[in-house]
Amino acid sequence: MKYEKIFYYSDTNFLFVLREIFDKKILKEKQRIILENQEMGDLGIFDDSIRLNPSWFDIWKDVSLPEKLSEYNQLIYPPQIRKLISKECYVPFHQDWKYLSKDVIPEKFHERFCVCFLPLNNEPSKYPTVEFVNNSKQTKIEHKERFKTKFNSFYLDGEFENIENFNLDFGDALIFGNEVAHRTLAKDYHRWGRLSQEFRITDDKSRIVGKDYYNMITNKFDIYL
Ligand SMILES: [Fe+2]
Repeated sequence: MKYEKIFYYSDTNFLFVLREIFDKKILKEKQRIILENQEMGDLGIFDDSIRLNPSWFDIWKDVSLPEKLSEYNQLIYPPQIRKLISKECYVPFHQDWKYLSKDVIPEKFHERFCVCFLPLNNEPSKYPTVEFVNNSKQTKIEHKERFKTKFNSFYLDGEFENIENFNLDFGDALIFGNEVAHRTLAKDYHRWGRLSQEFRITDDKSRIVGKDYYNMITNKFDIYL
Protein backbone atom coordinates (compact mmCIF):
# COMPACT_ATOMS: atom_id res chain seq x y z
CA MET A 1 0.00 0.00 0.00
CA LYS A 2 1.32 3.45 -0.76
CA TYR A 3 -0.04 6.95 -0.40
CA GLU A 4 0.36 9.80 -2.81
CA LYS A 5 -0.22 13.09 -1.09
CA ILE A 6 -1.67 15.40 -3.73
CA PHE A 7 -2.27 18.26 -1.31
CA TYR A 8 -2.81 18.78 2.39
CA TYR A 9 -3.70 22.32 3.45
CA SER A 10 -5.90 21.49 6.44
CA ASP A 11 -7.97 18.63 7.83
CA THR A 12 -10.88 19.67 5.61
CA ASN A 13 -8.87 20.56 2.51
CA PHE A 14 -6.71 17.63 1.42
CA LEU A 15 -6.51 14.89 -1.16
CA PHE A 16 -4.55 11.64 -1.19
CA VAL A 17 -4.48 8.83 -3.71
CA LEU A 18 -4.34 5.53 -1.87
CA ARG A 19 -2.67 2.92 -4.08
CA GLU A 20 -3.37 -0.77 -3.60
CA ILE A 21 -4.97 -0.04 -0.27
CA PHE A 22 -7.72 -2.65 -0.34
CA ASP A 23 -7.49 -6.42 -0.56
CA LYS A 24 -8.47 -7.27 -4.13
CA LYS A 25 -10.01 -10.61 -3.20
CA ILE A 26 -12.44 -9.01 -0.78
CA LEU A 27 -13.11 -6.18 -3.23
CA LYS A 28 -13.98 -8.70 -5.96
CA GLU A 29 -16.55 -10.22 -3.67
CA LYS A 30 -18.12 -6.79 -3.08
CA GLN A 31 -18.07 -6.13 -6.81
CA ARG A 32 -19.91 -9.40 -7.42
CA ILE A 33 -22.64 -8.52 -4.92
CA ILE A 34 -23.15 -5.12 -6.54
CA LEU A 35 -23.22 -6.57 -10.06
CA GLU A 36 -25.67 -9.33 -9.16
CA ASN A 37 -28.06 -7.17 -7.26
CA GLN A 38 -30.91 -5.70 -9.19
CA GLU A 39 -32.33 -3.58 -6.38
CA MET A 40 -31.40 -0.02 -6.95
CA GLY A 41 -32.44 3.34 -5.64
CA ASP A 42 -32.45 6.84 -6.94
CA LEU A 43 -29.66 7.79 -9.36
CA GLY A 44 -27.94 4.42 -9.15
CA ILE A 45 -27.59 4.58 -5.40
CA PHE A 46 -28.48 1.29 -3.74
CA ASP A 47 -31.24 1.49 -1.20
CA ASP A 48 -31.00 0.58 2.46
CA SER A 49 -31.85 -3.11 2.01
CA ILE A 50 -28.41 -3.49 0.41
CA ARG A 51 -26.46 -0.73 2.08
CA LEU A 52 -27.31 -1.71 5.64
CA ASN A 53 -25.35 -4.95 5.57
CA PRO A 54 -22.39 -4.37 7.93
CA SER A 55 -20.18 -6.66 5.82
CA TRP A 56 -19.46 -3.70 3.48
CA PHE A 57 -16.91 -2.73 6.11
CA ASP A 58 -14.92 -5.99 5.72
CA ILE A 59 -12.56 -4.31 3.29
CA TRP A 60 -11.38 -1.92 6.02
CA LYS A 61 -9.90 -4.61 8.22
CA ASP A 62 -6.21 -3.81 8.79
CA VAL A 63 -6.31 -0.77 6.53
CA SER A 64 -4.60 2.30 7.92
CA LEU A 65 -4.79 5.83 6.58
CA PRO A 66 -1.93 8.29 6.10
CA GLU A 67 -0.50 9.61 9.38
CA LYS A 68 -1.97 13.08 8.89
CA LEU A 69 -5.46 11.58 8.78
CA SER A 70 -5.10 9.40 11.86
CA GLU A 71 -7.94 11.13 13.73
CA TYR A 72 -10.34 10.03 11.02
CA ASN A 73 -10.93 6.54 12.35
CA GLN A 74 -14.71 6.07 12.55
CA LEU A 75 -16.44 4.94 9.38
CA ILE A 76 -19.98 6.22 9.24
CA TYR A 77 -22.62 3.56 8.62
CA PRO A 78 -23.97 2.86 6.05
CA PRO A 79 -21.77 3.52 2.97
CA GLN A 80 -22.99 4.87 -0.36
CA ILE A 81 -22.99 2.29 -3.12
CA ARG A 82 -23.43 3.21 -6.75
CA LYS A 83 -24.16 1.13 -9.81
CA LEU A 84 -24.66 3.30 -12.86
CA ILE A 85 -24.85 0.64 -15.54
CA SER A 86 -26.98 2.34 -18.13
CA LYS A 87 -27.76 5.62 -16.45
CA GLU A 88 -25.70 8.67 -16.97
CA CYS A 89 -25.02 10.42 -13.74
CA TYR A 90 -23.02 13.57 -13.87
CA VAL A 91 -22.64 15.30 -10.53
CA PRO A 92 -21.46 18.92 -10.90
CA PHE A 93 -18.96 20.63 -8.59
CA HIS A 94 -19.87 20.51 -4.91
CA GLN A 95 -18.30 20.09 -1.47
CA ASP A 96 -19.41 17.16 0.66
CA TRP A 97 -19.79 19.08 3.94
CA LYS A 98 -23.06 20.39 2.52
CA TYR A 99 -24.59 16.93 2.25
CA LEU A 100 -24.11 16.18 5.96
CA SER A 101 -24.70 19.70 7.20
CA LYS A 102 -27.08 20.68 9.95
CA ASP A 103 -29.64 22.31 7.68
CA VAL A 104 -29.77 19.31 5.30
CA ILE A 105 -29.85 16.39 7.74
CA PRO A 106 -30.08 17.67 11.30
CA GLU A 107 -30.53 14.10 12.59
CA LYS A 108 -27.22 12.86 11.12
CA PHE A 109 -25.13 16.00 11.26
CA HIS A 110 -21.38 15.31 11.61
CA GLU A 111 -19.10 18.18 12.52
CA ARG A 112 -15.97 16.75 10.98
CA PHE A 113 -15.66 14.04 8.33
CA CYS A 114 -13.80 13.15 5.16
CA VAL A 115 -14.73 10.94 2.23
CA CYS A 116 -13.13 7.88 0.67
CA PHE A 117 -14.14 7.16 -2.92
CA LEU A 118 -13.46 3.63 -3.98
CA PRO A 119 -14.02 2.55 -7.59
CA LEU A 120 -15.20 -1.02 -8.09
CA ASN A 121 -14.82 -1.45 -11.84
CA ASN A 122 -12.03 -3.75 -12.98
CA GLU A 123 -10.48 -0.90 -14.94
CA PRO A 124 -11.72 2.19 -13.12
CA SER A 125 -10.06 4.59 -15.54
CA LYS A 126 -12.44 3.48 -18.27
CA TYR A 127 -15.42 4.60 -16.20
CA PRO A 128 -16.52 7.83 -14.59
CA THR A 129 -14.64 8.64 -11.38
CA VAL A 130 -14.08 11.94 -9.57
CA GLU A 131 -11.91 15.02 -10.12
CA PHE A 132 -10.90 17.67 -7.59
CA VAL A 133 -10.02 21.33 -7.25
CA ASN A 134 -6.60 21.97 -5.76
CA ASN A 135 -6.93 25.33 -4.00
CA SER A 136 -4.94 26.11 -0.85
CA LYS A 137 -7.43 28.84 0.14
CA GLN A 138 -10.57 26.75 -0.26
CA THR A 139 -13.10 26.87 2.58
CA LYS A 140 -16.84 26.25 2.71
CA ILE A 141 -18.83 27.82 -0.12
CA GLU A 142 -22.59 28.27 -0.10
CA HIS A 143 -24.26 25.87 -2.51
CA LYS A 144 -27.13 26.28 -4.92
CA GLU A 145 -29.96 23.79 -4.86
CA ARG A 146 -31.17 21.99 -7.97
CA PHE A 147 -34.05 19.98 -6.65
CA LYS A 148 -35.54 18.87 -3.36
CA THR A 149 -33.95 15.50 -2.78
CA LYS A 150 -30.96 14.72 -0.64
CA PHE A 151 -29.07 13.12 -3.53
CA ASN A 152 -27.02 15.26 -5.86
CA SER A 153 -29.15 18.29 -5.22
CA PHE A 154 -26.48 20.83 -4.29
CA TYR A 155 -23.90 22.34 -6.58
CA LEU A 156 -21.43 25.18 -6.84
CA ASP A 157 -21.65 27.88 -9.42
CA GLY A 158 -18.64 29.32 -11.16
CA GLU A 159 -15.35 28.29 -12.67
CA PHE A 160 -12.64 26.33 -10.91
CA GLU A 161 -8.95 26.04 -11.78
CA ASN A 162 -6.18 23.57 -10.93
CA ILE A 163 -8.21 20.44 -11.42
CA GLU A 164 -6.61 17.14 -10.40
CA ASN A 165 -7.63 13.79 -11.81
CA PHE A 166 -6.07 10.35 -11.77
CA ASN A 167 -5.81 7.00 -13.44
CA LEU A 168 -7.02 4.57 -10.85
CA ASP A 169 -6.54 0.81 -10.69
CA PHE A 170 -8.71 -1.78 -9.02
CA GLY A 171 -7.77 -1.65 -5.32
CA ASP A 172 -6.94 2.08 -5.34
CA ALA A 173 -9.03 4.79 -3.69
CA LEU A 174 -9.20 8.55 -3.23
CA ILE A 175 -9.61 10.23 0.12
CA PHE A 176 -10.45 13.90 0.46
CA GLY A 177 -11.57 16.57 2.90
CA ASN A 178 -15.15 17.73 2.92
CA GLU A 179 -14.32 21.27 1.73
CA VAL A 180 -12.60 20.08 -1.45
CA ALA A 181 -14.72 20.97 -4.47
CA HIS A 182 -15.12 17.96 -6.76
CA ARG A 183 -17.29 16.63 -9.59
CA THR A 184 -17.78 13.55 -11.71
CA LEU A 185 -14.87 12.91 -14.06
CA ALA A 186 -16.58 11.59 -17.17
CA LYS A 187 -14.59 11.66 -20.36
CA ASP A 188 -16.78 11.79 -23.48
CA TYR A 189 -16.20 8.20 -24.41
CA HIS A 190 -17.13 6.67 -21.06
CA ARG A 191 -20.05 8.15 -19.23
CA TRP A 192 -21.76 4.98 -18.01
CA GLY A 193 -21.08 1.82 -16.09
CA ARG A 194 -19.60 3.14 -12.91
CA LEU A 195 -19.49 0.86 -9.88
CA SER A 196 -18.27 2.53 -6.74
CA GLN A 197 -18.55 2.95 -3.03
CA GLU A 198 -18.13 6.03 -0.92
CA PHE A 199 -17.33 5.86 2.74
CA ARG A 200 -17.60 8.84 5.05
CA ILE A 201 -15.10 8.83 7.88
CA THR A 202 -15.44 10.87 11.03
CA ASP A 203 -13.46 11.20 14.27
CA ASP A 204 -14.21 10.04 17.83
CA LYS A 205 -15.50 13.42 18.95
CA SER A 206 -17.91 13.95 16.07
CA ARG A 207 -19.79 10.69 16.57
CA ILE A 208 -23.54 10.88 17.19
CA VAL A 209 -24.96 8.95 20.12
CA GLY A 210 -27.13 6.04 18.95
CA LYS A 211 -25.53 5.81 15.50
CA ASP A 212 -23.42 2.94 14.17
CA TYR A 213 -19.75 3.24 13.25
CA TYR A 214 -16.97 0.94 12.17
CA ASN A 215 -13.98 1.65 14.37
CA MET A 216 -10.83 1.42 12.22
CA ILE A 217 -8.55 0.98 15.23
CA THR A 218 -10.35 -1.95 16.83
CA ASN A 219 -11.85 -3.22 13.55
CA LYS A 220 -15.21 -3.43 15.25
CA PHE A 221 -18.63 -2.37 14.14
CA ASP A 222 -20.56 -0.79 17.01
CA ILE A 223 -23.29 1.57 18.08
CA TYR A 224 -21.93 4.68 19.79
CA LEU A 225 -23.59 4.90 23.21
FE1 LIG B 1 -19.21 14.40 -3.39
